[in-house]
Amino acid sequence: MSKPANLAYIANLAEHQGQSVTIRGWLYNKRSSGKVRFVLVRDGTGIVQGVLVKGQVLETAFEQFELLSQESSLVIQGQVRAEPRAPGGYELAVTDLQPLHIAAEYPISLKDHGVAFLLEHRHLWLRSPRQQAILRIRDEIIRACRDFFAERGFILIDTPIFTPAACEGTTTLFQTDYFDERKAYLSQSGQLYLEAAAMALGQVYCCGPTFRAEKSKTRRHLTEFWMLETEVAFAELEEIMALAEALIVYLVGRVLDRRTAEFQALERPLEPLQAIKSPFPRLSYTEARQRLAAAGQELPWGEDLGGGDETVLSEMYDRPLIVHRYPRSCKAFYMKADPVDPQLALCLDMLAPEGYGEIIGGSQREDDLDTLVARLQEHQLPQAPFEWYLDLRRYGSVPHSGFGLGLERLVSWLCSLKHVREAIPFPRLMDRLYP
Ligand code: 4AD
Ligand code: MG
Repeated sequence: MSKPANLAYIANLAEHQGQSVTIRGWLYNKRSSGKVRFVLVRDGTGIVQGVLVKGQVLETAFEQFELLSQESSLVIQGQVRAEPRAPGGYELAVTDLQPLHIAAEYPISLKDHGVAFLLEHRHLWLRSPRQQAILRIRDEIIRACRDFFAERGFILIDTPIFTPAACEGTTTLFQTDYFDERKAYLSQSGQLYLEAAAMALGQVYCCGPTFRAEKSKTRRHLTEFWMLETEVAFAELEEIMALAEALIVYLVGRVLDRRTAEFQALERPLEPLQAIKSPFPRLSYTEARQRLAAAGQELPWGEDLGGGDETVLSEMYDRPLIVHRYPRSCKAFYMKADPVDPQLALCLDMLAPEGYGEIIGGSQREDDLDTLVARLQEHQLPQAPFEWYLDLRRYGSVPHSGFGLGLERLVSWLCSLKHVREAIPFPRLMDRLYP
């Protein structure tokens, strides 16, 4: 179908007041009242009410109206006029209406459905105003991430998905056949490759899908999720903590600036987000354990914070909390030991407020060849697939640090979602691979 000369998008109707426009979209809802018919049409940018008055539209349009079922696709023409009571502030005085395809009975009616049913129909669920709002916020965040790093001179590096080795421990690896009897693993993190790129370009970042065969059915876990990662040559832990904080302040500011309509659609209160300002509170792991103990939650030394611990801690503050210097025993092989207390790693986790838990994990990296080789052995990792990574410590090794931000965790917190599965278009969970 050719593009109509007066095609308009619902989001921009204010620019067309008084003009005749064509809208292409889908029927969200309809109703009748005497000689007047109302259609609610969505086009992906918004929802507009079209009003058909007998005598003012073609008789055929009235007949077509009767045929329209929920989610039927259609084209409508009409005059744009201000209507304060209409969603968006404008409505269309419809002059013509042509259905393109009459939808079969739509499985997702406007009443409430259970989550299992909605997930099974995720391909259709995406059309709901709530899901659209979440996806628009996600889109804005990704763009803002790129802007943040581009403004600071970082270079985007796309890291591979097929990898020969583990980055974040062998228990959560997805393995796949790779031609003649070789195995490949789906990337758990772009970090190791990003470290190589940092030695080439200095300040780098990546943003891509990552995979964890995590047998967790929590509201925070996906088996496929998107991670934004950065790596900075010559940076030590302190510098990367400041960078992580600056990133979050920037991202929150950006969505508050540009996505208030979407937050409104989600009924997400904005005050908690408006409170996200520097400086963020910081606790060492040791201090965090003390706070937990005071709150009646004992954490044995050496154990990573559990989801419950994170919730207790993060609810003590109105902004994200940085916990640093965890015991090395509960963290990844590549983290550098704290020279002050070598049992500790020079690492950070950022916990979101409102009980959303860890959104960022990062560290200073071990830059000494012999120590790193010993670490691989401690973690029972084979050395051969990591030779290239060890080379970074053979040829001009420098201190360097980085972190990774879980995109869906961030979206969940910002949108106040109950579960990360709504923060990604097509969630991959332990028990979900369809659609
Ligand atoms: O803490 P993680 O495992 O850190 C890394 O992968 C580092 N290599 C990153 C780096 O330093 N470049 O993961 C980073 C973040 C977590 O803080 C969390 O937000 C998110 O990724 N994440 C998950 N999100 C959803 N589902 C999962 N199963 C996740 N696992 C981690
Ligand atoms: Mg982590």
